[in-house]
Amino acid sequence: MNILTDAEKLAELDSDQLHRLVGLVEHDDAADPFPVTGWDAVVWAVGNATQAAQLFQAVYGMELVAYSGPVTGNRDHHAYVLRSGAVRFELRGAVDPASPIADHHRAHGDGIVDIALEVPDVDRCVAHARAQGATVLVEPSDESDEHGTVRTAAIATYGETRHTLVDRSRYTGPYRPGYVVRSSTPVRPDGAPKRLFQALDHVVGNVELGRMDEWVDFYHRIMGFTNMAEFVGDDIATEYSALMSKVVASGNHRVKFPLNEPSQGRRKSQIDEYLEFYRGPGAQHLALATNDILRTVDVLRARGVEFLDTPAAYYEDPELRARIGEVRVPISELQSRGILVDRDEDGYLLQIFTKPVGDRPTVFFEFIERHGSLGFGKGNFKALFEAIEREQEKRGNV
Ligand SMILES: [Fe+2]
Repeated sequence: MNILTDAEKLAELDSDQLHRLVGLVEHDDAADPFPVTGWDAVVWAVGNATQAAQLFQAVYGMELVAYSGPVTGNRDHHAYVLRSGAVRFELRGAVDPASPIADHHRAHGDGIVDIALEVPDVDRCVAHARAQGATVLVEPSDESDEHGTVRTAAIATYGETRHTLVDRSRYTGPYRPGYVVRSSTPVRPDGAPKRLFQALDHVVGNVELGRMDEWVDFYHRIMGFTNMAEFVGDDIATEYSALMSKVVASGNHRVKFPLNEPSQGRRKSQIDEYLEFYRGPGAQHLALATNDILRTVDVLRARGVEFLDTPAAYYEDPELRARIGEVRVPISELQSRGILVDRDEDGYLLQIFTKPVGDRPTVFFEFIERHGSLGFGKGNFKALFEAIEREQEKRGNV
């Protein structure tokens, strides 16, 4: 039996639902040199955390649960902790101009600084990571308050991104010591869904040209991850740009990291564009799992979220129609919303991508509804890239 994380229990998810949503599988932690229970939080550094927190509540339907900032004695920055199902975001924005968050934002724009992971044994993970040559940014230590103790450490990954390792098994507070309970004030309109997404499926990293295999090796060696799928070269090449992508996953498949590097195209690829505007490697997109992507897209679009356009030709292509077969709704329902569909030997998935969430053409979201398929939409990469390239062209970055 898989142990559920506290966030999953709070979200009233069970193992079966998580299997359907994100492909959770059984895994024996005892034999794993670096056992990972699941996602802890995705930590963002943004230009205006106060407004971003409003956006993620009012538009994305997330719930504010905890806060740290000047009124709690943290004079450096605001930090808002939001949840939707088992997904947790922490949004940090500088108050003090000397804050490292201000430096990060100046260099990278709005971005993800930390993909924090829940682990059962911080010290064991750090010992293994160090022995394998990882950069340990923060040594294991305890933080305590009246709710108990959280043990954390942090290791470096691509670019300026880190993985904080969190053991919260002895903690009952809202997030971590130093944060206070804070609740959402927006009221959910009548008939609005309780939440628009339930779990985090995968986080994609864009890494330097020619270094994808090094980062794949990093996750194998340091964190005991295994390969899930591999997309190389022609599979995801368009006429002008291409990328190489490999996917690594934690033992229980909760944590999945596709890693992309640019590959030679005739023009600048979308990965090159990301690397240029993010000023280096970083997290490219977060895939949020939903059990009703049609409703999620309808609600988000009504609230002003913009998605990538999918050409009509995508839905009308007879080859694609034949490959897709039967899905739970008529293709016209997908076409009217621009939702993509892909199928493999295990089943199918529905997915859609937003436009970049910040001011730079860097980080964006994917929404994904899985029906057996444990893939990442390989068959859609080409259609997606062509759509992204049309946007890139409008921005003049080709
Ligand atoms: Fe994805």
